[in-house]
Amino acid sequence: MSSIVSDVVVDVQYGDCGKGKVTHHLARTGSYTHVVRYNGGHNAGHTIYHEGKKFVTHAIPCGVFFGIKSIIGPGCVINPTRLLEEMEELRSSGIDVDGLLMIASNAHVITDWHLVEDGKDSVIGTTKRGNGPAYRDKYGRKGIRASQVHDLQDYIVDVYEEFHNNQEYEQVKVLFEGAQGFGLDIDWGDYPYVTSSHCTSASAFLNGVPPSSVRNVYGVGKIYETYVGAKDFEMEDSALAERIRSVGQEFGATTGRPRQVNWFDLDSISRAIDINGVTKLVINKVDVLEALATEGDYLRVYHGDDTFSFESIEDMRYYIQEHLGRENMDIYFSGNKDRI
Ligand code: IMO
Ligand code: MG
Repeated sequence: MSSIVSDVVVDVQYGDCGKGKVTHHLARTGSYTHVVRYNGGHNAGHTIYHEGKKFVTHAIPCGVFFGIKSIIGPGCVINPTRLLEEMEELRSSGIDVDGLLMIASNAHVITDWHLVEDGKDSVIGTTKRGNGPAYRDKYGRKGIRASQVHDLQDYIVDVYEEFHNNQEYEQVKVLFEGAQGFGLDIDWGDYPYVTSSHCTSASAFLNGVPPSSVRNVYGVGKIYETYVGAKDFEMEDSALAERIRSVGQEFGATTGRPRQVNWFDLDSISRAIDINGVTKLVINKVDVLEALATEGDYLRVYHGDDTFSFESIEDMRYYIQEHLGRENMDIYFSGNKDRI
């Protein structure tokens, strides 16, 4: 029996808050034995700067950048063709995935038919990567598991054996890399404008480790909010939204769609902190609003029924710290340009 510890990275807004950056930093510094994607599929787009070079990963956990075993967990859905392409892209950029990338035998598969079906969506504004239909078939008990797919055989792993009966390590140390975000969670998000998987920290424990293994939950948010999809989300003042979108480069890493922009919502993040059990909160892209502060009224948050404006980014940070602070949680503010 191996002992297991784990840390979880979870997005506290609507995705695209910088999970890639935080996970990459932790994988580099945290001496993990495994990095595990715990939900979602190729709908995710994680932007990572590795040794000065930009990468966008979709299904492959960021452990591969550091020679760490990287598992696509049982909570995920996989498009085999896309996955093999993503592996090839990484290989051709000098990132060695072979011998590191593994796929849980009980993860599910996105079929061509799932892609066709999802391609017809006009209600939710999905990424059209087949996620919804693949999860529907999984829960309808009509799905196909990764272990049944010929092209994936070289990568299949029994997650139980890998985590619990591993003679290789004295202690298995897992970093869980979440996809999507709390606001897109199938249960806690703004239904039906959600994705089809569980995006909360609890979802990590559906991937073969016990809840008692968790040490830290890293909640990742942004100093303003963005959302991509069919519902109306953007702030009233479209000129301000446009400026933030342009300075913050808020365009989907997977589909290239412009992200709708709104102010930081204290109440919804507070809820996300409580439900996910966040112990370390990272608020990204602070420098984007800081750069815009001299141009106009860009330093705002929603709190209760009101919007609050601030004179300086320091005042805004102080207010956030005051109202989100918890006894057992640290808050870090980070800039887009801090490439950690
Ligand atoms: P990462 O991991 C932001 C959104 C889609 C749509 C809804 C449902 O990069 O943060 P789906 O294709 O999942 O059925 O679409 O969820 N969405 C994301 N938005 N970041 C993501 O992933 C997303 N993955 C899905 O835009 O509104
Ligand atoms: Mg993304």
